[in-house]
Amino acid sequence: MSEQQALTATNYFFRNQIAFYRGKVRDVYHINKGYLAIVACDRISAFDHVLPRSIPFKGQVLNEIAALFLRQTSDIVPNWLIETPDPHVSFGYKAEAIPIEFVVRHYLTGHAWRVYKEGGRLLCGNTLPDGLKENDQLPNPIITPSTKAHTGHDVDISYAEIIEQGILDKSRLDELHEIALALFKRGTEYAAKQNLILVDTKYEFGIKDDAIMLIDEIHTPDSSRFFYKDSYNELQQKGSPQRQLSKEFVREWLMANGFQGKQGELIPTLTDEFIASITARYEELYKAMAGKELNRRSYENIDNEIESNINNCLSKYL
Ligand SMILES: Nc1ncnc2c1ncn2[C@@H]1O[C@H](COP(=O)(O)OP(=O)(O)O)[C@@H](O)[C@H]1O
Ligand SMILES: [Mg+2]
Repeated sequence: MSEQQALTATNYFFRNQIAFYRGKVRDVYHINKGYLAIVACDRISAFDHVLPRSIPFKGQVLNEIAALFLRQTSDIVPNWLIETPDPHVSFGYKAEAIPIEFVVRHYLTGHAWRVYKEGGRLLCGNTLPDGLKENDQLPNPIITPSTKAHTGHDVDISYAEIIEQGILDKSRLDELHEIALALFKRGTEYAAKQNLILVDTKYEFGIKDDAIMLIDEIHTPDSSRFFYKDSYNELQQKGSPQRQLSKEFVREWLMANGFQGKQGELIPTLTDEFIASITARYEELYKAMAGKELNRRSYENIDNEIESNINNCLSKYL
């Protein structure tokens, strides 16, 4: 199979652009008057490393799923999204980002499982019961915040430490705690209708005009794990791995090929076949979450198309 085009990075300079930030996956254009245009590129990261090849349609999937859920949860908390001028782009308000990721977990998976397996029963101030196995449901959803590190891995932090370090005061933290749980509940209910389990996810918040604003992406395959609901119990009883609809299978493939993001390790070569299988997974998740097929955008003239879509959008607000 020949290599499919993908949107690896963008390099625009818009009228009224005041700053540019390249995240692991997204290109963030800061626009005058407190706006942001965020391009969800097709880059993929795992273990906090951007992989050398991009995944066609991944950015579109991320952008469209995030927009769907931001619209669907705006009654719980105001969010940053104003519109999606292009399949890969969201436009909205810039907030002053709070440097904490609110990770909500309802299952013993991923990082939480790794801690638990080593005997850890305390996770960011949450006590975990004994006797659980990987992917078991926790008695309640718990929040395991992590600091948003500028480089390298995010680090677990407890509410007590967040307050001690003066990152947030207690009342704001309580408010964010309740909002994160309400968002998770909404995501869980919606996922259940689509035969999915929202296993865990993370939310980022900011402050705008002294009020809390939900920012970033939500309930996407990059920020969340999903299991298939109908097969969950049976697989759990058999002690088999869960059917996952998230980036987890990319992490597993990398680990099987000797890469866990540690220093000195080489990122294994991603074959065309593997890239295509990642695209397929992202599209499968889109279909499951959005309840319809992804309307694949064209890559033929993508750079110019994105630029003019953003310019048209900016001209409405500036
Ligand atoms: N409305 C917003 N206001 C301010 N910052 C935002 C907003 N939405 C998203 N961000 C930030 O934009 C960046 C998105 O790019 P991403 O690829 O996720 O980068 P990162 O590697 O920093 O996680 C994140 O740092 C996120 O915190
Ligand atoms: Mg991010």
